[in-house]
Amino acid sequence: MANGLLEGKVGIIFGALDEKSIAWQTALKCHEQGAKIVLTNAPVALRMGGIQDLADIIGAEVIPADATSMEDLDNLIVKSQEILGGKLDFILHSIGMSINVRKKKEYTDLNHDWMLKTFDISAISFHKVMQTAMKLDAMNEWGSIVALSYMAAQRVFPDYSEMAESKALLESFARSFGYHWGKKSKVRVNTISQSPTMTTAGSGVKGFSDFYSYSDTMSPLGNASSQACADYCVTLFSDLTRMVTMQNLLHDGGFSSMGMEPDVLSL
Ligand SMILES: NC(=O)c1ccc[n+]([C@@H]2O[C@H](COP(=O)([O-])OP(=O)(O)OC[C@H]3O[C@@H](n4cnc5c(N)ncnc54)[C@H](O)[C@@H]3O)[C@@H](O)[C@H]2O)c1
Repeated sequence: MANGLLEGKVGIIFGALDEKSIAWQTALKCHEQGAKIVLTNAPVALRMGGIQDLADIIGAEVIPADATSMEDLDNLIVKSQEILGGKLDFILHSIGMSINVRKKKEYTDLNHDWMLKTFDISAISFHKVMQTAMKLDAMNEWGSIVALSYMAAQRVFPDYSEMAESKALLESFARSFGYHWGKKSKVRVNTISQSPTMTTAGSGVKGFSDFYSYSDTMSPLGNASSQACADYCVTLFSDLTRMVTMQNLLHDGGFSSMGMEPDVLSL
């Protein structure tokens, strides 16, 4: 259902690894709505994933960038503006990785050096992206910056481990930096708190498929898919949501408002 919501807009999308990625689906939808995009991912992910296939479909260029490297981010944002013909209208930060989760360390026995790396990749990179874009004066007025979060920032999901703290930090950066962006150039900054989604990052969490079913049953609308999340990103990049900023927006089929769902008892 293309209706030109992003006609004339240009932006950068971080984090498309494969077809399952939320970023991949968002890139497709943004393209369908008329946007021009630069795709980026960590150099190692570019070697593993199929991002060039996505780039071919949507006619985008791919620029490698480790989102923890200020040098890479500087290069990415300078080059993107050259390719896209000017300042950016939107940025999607769709990045998450926990070494402790990957190595199956228990929450009560975490490696704190790895924890710092997790925070750097999954949360501080969002600050780094925004700081670089601001330093380069790279955003158009009324632009929109979005990152993806999860409700473990507010509530306990034991197997989500240190990613819970990463998401709390991420959401806080959206609020704090959102203030500065708003004052500077009316740019809005929000996080989307998305349902569990069957992606590479999602299914790395212990017991993910059981948890996915639990959440699906608990949510009156079921879990939100990556395509539905992509649609929501389009609305946040469009001019229809210009006054929404510094928010954590729940995109979860109703999960967060539930107390008791009898159907869960029969799972
Ligand atoms: N899948 C879920 O259940 C779920 C739920 C809520 C929120 N999210 C969030 O959505 C976002 C996207 O994840 P996804 O589920 O699409 O999984 P995904 O695995 O497809 O995407 C994660 C991306 O992060 C990238 N990445 C990792 N380290 C990086 C680095 N140093 N520099 C640049 N990129 C790096 C990976 O290459 C990958 O493309 C993440 O923030 C994730 O936490 C996911």
